[in-house]
Amino acid sequence: MGCLKLRRHVVISLLLAIVVAADCATGGALTIFNVLRYGAAGNGRSDDSPAFLRAWEAACKGNPTKNIPVVYVPPNRTFLLTPLAFLGPCKSQRIYVLMSGKLIAPVKREWKGSPDAWIQFFGINGLVMKGKGVIDGQGSTWWPDNTCRNDPDPAKGVACKGPYGMMFRNCDGLRLKGFSKINGPGSHIKITKANNTVISNLWIIAPGDSPNTDGIDITSSTDVQIRNSFIATGDDCVAINAGTSNVYVTGITCGPGHGISIGSLGHGGGNDTVENVHVRNCTLKGTLTGVRIKTVQGGKGYARNISFKGIKFEAVDNPIQIEQFYCPLKVNCRNYTSAIAVSDVSFVGISGTSVAQNVINLNCNQLFGCKNIRLDRVYIQPSIAGNKVSATCNNAHGKATHTRPMVNCFLP
Ligand SMILES: *[C@@H]1O[C@H](CO)[C@@H](O)[C@H](O)[C@H]1NC(C)=O
Ligand SMILES: *[C@@H]1O[C@H](CO)[C@@H](O)[C@H](O)[C@H]1NC(C)=O
Ligand SMILES: *[C@@H]1O[C@H](CO)[C@@H](O)[C@H](O)[C@H]1NC(C)=O
Ligand SMILES: *[C@@H]1O[C@H](CO)[C@@H](O)[C@H](O)[C@H]1NC(C)=O
Ligand SMILES: *[C@@H]1O[C@H](CO)[C@@H](O)[C@H](O)[C@H]1NC(C)=O
Ligand SMILES: *[C@@H]1O[C@H](CO)[C@@H](O)[C@H](O)[C@H]1NC(C)=O
Repeated sequence: MGCLKLRRHVVISLLLAIVVAADCATGGALTIFNVLRYGAAGNGRSDDSPAFLRAWEAACKGNPTKNIPVVYVPPNRTFLLTPLAFLGPCKSQRIYVLMSGKLIAPVKREWKGSPDAWIQFFGINGLVMKGKGVIDGQGSTWWPDNTCRNDPDPAKGVACKGPYGMMFRNCDGLRLKGFSKINGPGSHIKITKANNTVISNLWIIAPGDSPNTDGIDITSSTDVQIRNSFIATGDDCVAINAGTSNVYVTGITCGPGHGISIGSLGHGGGNDTVENVHVRNCTLKGTLTGVRIKTVQGGKGYARNISFKGIKFEAVDNPIQIEQFYCPLKVNCRNYTSAIAVSDVSFVGISGTSVAQNVINLNCNQLFGCKNIRLDRVYIQPSIAGNKVSATCNNAHGKATHTRPMVNCFLP
């Protein structure tokens, strides 16, 4: 710790060493902004949001030195935060949030402020949030109402969506590492309009029957890595949405949940594009779907250059799916004359078991089809001995080699 130069006398927990170690390499010294010094009580009852915002303001806007500011959330305390937004830009090129303690959200009936998200970060470049802390959205007070999101009446549907647990918007160079994000009211972590994001070693956990609790949602972003994390929720473990490119997902253990999804794309006739998504070495256990691409009718863009390699399934339902007729609310599911084009998708080195019979389902649009779909070394067995497994395609063009079940439904 020889390179550590602190501007304030603080108790440095061992956890701080994580941050320090990361910065010795670059020679950066740190200035600590402990939320307790800015008035946080950490008793789990009084609202610590004003104190957190003061600490943030000091670290982000007021830090007069060349040191890297660290907003420090100390261990062994529980901080109640009402919905709040941390705003950039900051003076320094990097800023840390060291999460050692626990954050909790208000229960639904005490929710004040933004209905969109609990903790928001806007326009902050070089934000690094790490530590072994726990961020608890207390979602159980929201979930009973979330199911009405599936109401065909869109107005009602939106009203029933729980807020995002954490939302990062326009944050370039974002790093999230090590903490637990649990029981989100809605999706746990949403990242949008960001370049160069690395997410690693997170634990994202909510009950399998908690509605609409995606693990990680990415939209409108480029260069995203999601690595070595455990995600068990009531919806998609990872959802990659419109406007996203260059995504690497590796070493994710997912389940329960709805698997790893691209889309859904093309809502409201949108020109949605997703490309260069590569999923490697992930395990899906007991999920409702495995790996899938879903697009709704009437969209305009594309999903292309997507690969899934080294995937293991354990008792997964619908393990491999491309669905160009996605229509979750089952209303206005008519056929349109435009569709999101799906091409250059490969499923390679995939094995495991499924509770479904139709384990590979490539259901593509009659006008555009799906082009250059490749399956190689894909072996999926029934999870119950004696059951049969099969593959189906509609309008899918591509090639299958070494697969069980046999895939002989491709068009050339
Ligand atoms: C937090 O609690 C743990 C376990 O009780 C204890 O070992 C540790 O010293 C505490 N840390 C601080 C900073 O109080
Ligand atoms: C990300 O990079 C693109 C292209 O280089 C740039 O136009 C955009 O402003 C960047 N995003 C942010 C949030 O800075
Ligand atoms: C859709 O967006 C892509 C990428 O931004 C663009 O290249 C393409 O021209 C757009 N297509 C339509 C039909 O607007
Ligand atoms: C597919 O994605 C990879 C990784 O992002 C990239 O290197 C490659 O050039 C892409 N291929 C095409 C045809 O765009
Ligand atoms: C995936 O696992 C294989 C075999 O263990 C390993 O060789 C490869 O480097 C891993 N790929 C990634 C991207 O982690
Ligand atoms: C849309 O077209 C597909 C493929 O031709 C067909 O299977 C499906 O029944 C049609 N759906 C509707 C709602 O017309």
